[in-house]
Amino acid sequence: MINIAVIGTGYVGLVSGACLADFGNMVTCIDNNSEKIDILQRGEIPIYEPGLDLIVERNTKAGRLHFTTDFEAAVTANNVLFIAVGTPPADDGSADLRYVKEVARKIGQVIESYTVVVDKSTVPVGTARKVYGWIKDELLIRGKDIPFDVVSNPEFLREGSAVQDFTHPDRVVIGLENERSRKIMKDIYRSLYLNETPFIETNLESAEMIKYASNSFLALKITFINEIANLCEKVGANVQDVAKAVGRDGRIGSKFLHPGPGYGGSCFPKDTQAMAQIGKDYGEHLSLVETTIEANKRQKIRMIEKIESGMGRHGSLSGKTIAILGLAFKQNTDDMRESPAILICEGLASKGAKLKVWDPAAMKEALWRFESIKDYVYFARDEYDAIENADALVILTPWNQFRNLDLPRIKKLLALPYFFDLRNIYKRNEIEEIGLIYFAIGK
Ligand code: UGA
Repeated sequence: MINIAVIGTGYVGLVSGACLADFGNMVTCIDNNSEKIDILQRGEIPIYEPGLDLIVERNTKAGRLHFTTDFEAAVTANNVLFIAVGTPPADDGSADLRYVKEVARKIGQVIESYTVVVDKSTVPVGTARKVYGWIKDELLIRGKDIPFDVVSNPEFLREGSAVQDFTHPDRVVIGLENERSRKIMKDIYRSLYLNETPFIETNLESAEMIKYASNSFLALKITFINEIANLCEKVGANVQDVAKAVGRDGRIGSKFLHPGPGYGGSCFPKDTQAMAQIGKDYGEHLSLVETTIEANKRQKIRMIEKIESGMGRHGSLSGKTIAILGLAFKQNTDDMRESPAILICEGLASKGAKLKVWDPAAMKEALWRFESIKDYVYFARDEYDAIENADALVILTPWNQFRNLDLPRIKKLLALPYFFDLRNIYKRNEIEEIGLIYFAIGK
């Protein structure tokens, strides 16, 4: 059994800590936010993530999972330290490493025996070596020659299915430099090794690059199908049939070929920006990544234009009421970071439209996100409250409960017959049959 401390109980840290405990390791999750640790110690979960509560409860009860604010005690008592602190974007789009650096230095200030330091946060290529240097500097100041290794072990967790992604990964990527740390990493992930999960062992830089390359490619794939969808609309093709057939080619694959209002979230926007910046730092122009970033922004703006031109027969957007279903950047999360809903709602409000918004999980975040347009926003109680007397209905997030709306009731509730299905979750004929005007993406 390995003793692990996970530093940072944000999204990645908490999911990783709980799942590592579920693999049979002894895990202590550390955070300097005492409020968060209090919540976790009470057995509550500070984030919305399906299944996480059960896994936290199970492992806390079994005595394998603990929470603390005491950094020094937890770091010295555990010989494997996962760094899972935030790497927010700096002004130039690069990842801000301030928290990683602070943690690395503090580790160097307190460790007393051999330690493996694992980078779990998404960090620019070269960071693991910097972490090594920061820890070494502190040890030199202390005049201590304590051995330690740095390992890069990027996460590939999707919000909403993070527990499943951690416990049943497509692959585990480990960047390391020697046998000693390799053996420990293998013990930590023993249950996955036994499950025959593919393990990709490589050097530190490759592991760091794999994370950015994966996220950039997925962002590019979505953006590609969004552009194809836009063209499909013009030429009379149906993007869903196109994506289905294209995706059947095993070299392409069917996942992440669903067009929509543009990707959002805390990862793709941030990581594509950081990737482009890493390219610049090394004198490489990553033109596809840069174009992806631009095209994704255009896609969001295009949605505002789509709604405006779609309703054109009834004049401008000024004074119109629009029901927005879905504010989170995707389903099964309460997260609105970089959600297309933000830019789209702001754009509609700036054109004088009144908004009636509803999301099954993100209403709390929407309250402060929409502070600047609050005079234009009504926070609804459910989907039908949002739709009542609205002139148009716009679906922005493909929550399951939006896939099965009571269509005749919607027809009665809407003042004008506009139905914008910006996630392609309905069929044209089922909407047109009840007398509504249907708009989708790419069909
Ligand atoms: C993403 C990656 O999928 C994870 O593998 C990665 O670990 C994570 O970032 C991270 O870096 O931590 P996540 O941001 O949770 O995960 O969400 P995704 O499910 O990838 O969706 C991202 C955005 O793309 C959402 O706005 C979603 O609606 C959009 N999307 C996704 C599409 O518009 N079309 C698709 O076909 C797929």
